[in-house]
Amino acid sequence: MRWSRAVPAVPVAGVLGLAVHDVVQKRHALLRNFPVVGHMRYLLETVGPELRQYIISGNDEERPFSRNQRRWIYASSKLENNYFRFGADNDMEYRQGYPIIKHRTFSEIRQVSDAHTRKADGLPCAKVLGGPRQRAQAFRPKSVVNVSGLSFGSLSAAAIEAVNRGAAEAGCLHNTGEGSLSPYHRHGGELVLQIGTAYFGCRDEAGHFDLERLKEVVASGPVRAIEIKLSQGAKPGLGGLLPGAKVTPEIAEIRGIQKGVDCSSPSRHTEFHDVDGMLDWVELLAAETGLPVGIKSAVGNLDFWEQAGPRVEVGASGELHQDAAA
Ligand SMILES: Cc1cc2nc3c(=O)[nH]c(=O)nc-3n(C[C@H](O)[C@H](O)[C@H](O)COP(=O)(O)O)c2cc1C
Repeated sequence: MRWSRAVPAVPVAGVLGLAVHDVVQKRHALLRNFPVVGHMRYLLETVGPELRQYIISGNDEERPFSRNQRRWIYASSKLENNYFRFGADNDMEYRQGYPIIKHRTFSEIRQVSDAHTRKADGLPCAKVLGGPRQRAQAFRPKSVVNVSGLSFGSLSAAAIEAVNRGAAEAGCLHNTGEGSLSPYHRHGGELVLQIGTAYFGCRDEAGHFDLERLKEVVASGPVRAIEIKLSQGAKPGLGGLLPGAKVTPEIAEIRGIQKGVDCSSPSRHTEFHDVDGMLDWVELLAAETGLPVGIKSAVGNLDFWEQAGPRVEVGASGELHQDAAA
């Protein structure tokens, strides 16, 4: 056979081979019914998210961050010009998230803040954490905007370190999350130590809360406050499970658990069984550490809030804190 005939025969044979394979195979009904062309469906499914992200969806459509917001974040993080028009193609009228700022001609004369020179105005918290109960280490957070709990183990070492360095630069607090205090949380940012239902980092070998371990962890870092996590939106009902494959020797050491073994965060605390018990525990932690102690909870069962309601208030961060401590 001459080359000129053999060359086109190769793709034809390939397509025929694929068609025979599709008709004979028993895994995908789609391919049996639509041999060869059926593969287009899988291809489109694979590239669908990118097609939607870059071609179909608008600049202000995606969640949790739209293209406009991502563009602003990329430019800001590279210290490039981040003055984009967010506005005109957004629906702004009477929508949440678009505060209306009215111009005042004869306001106080203040220095212009400038993100590029890093001379931004601070916005300290209106509240003194631990002030109402006169905790030994009560303090006023330097920022009303702070970083919510993100545990080491669910986020990588590099991510935790980046967040902590960012918190140090921004002068805000970094919540450790329930995975305890890792070396990556020690890059200058001040911390809120979160205690979850599994007492990671402050538990004994049987998994019970260990006050002495807690005091050691608190003393080991720039911990400014403690947050007892009752629940979070992402783990309703059953609590959470860290699969054994993710429990590396380092994570096991930091959390005080066995490496390579599945580790569960129960759905509730075992140190207290009612609202009074919870408040007693808050007092115990505050007395032993001198720190302000608050609670975080996703609002679920309302009975709990009806009992606790008169004794708690919403903190400046938008989270719920025990009145006694916040
Ligand atoms: C990777 C990851 C880990 C998290 N770890 C914790 C945690 O340890 N403790 C906690 O209270 N919340 C944790 N959260 C919840 C966040 O603090 C936050 O409340 C949640 O992501 C909702 O905020 P967002 O809509 O800005 O993401 C975690 C969230 C993520 C994405």
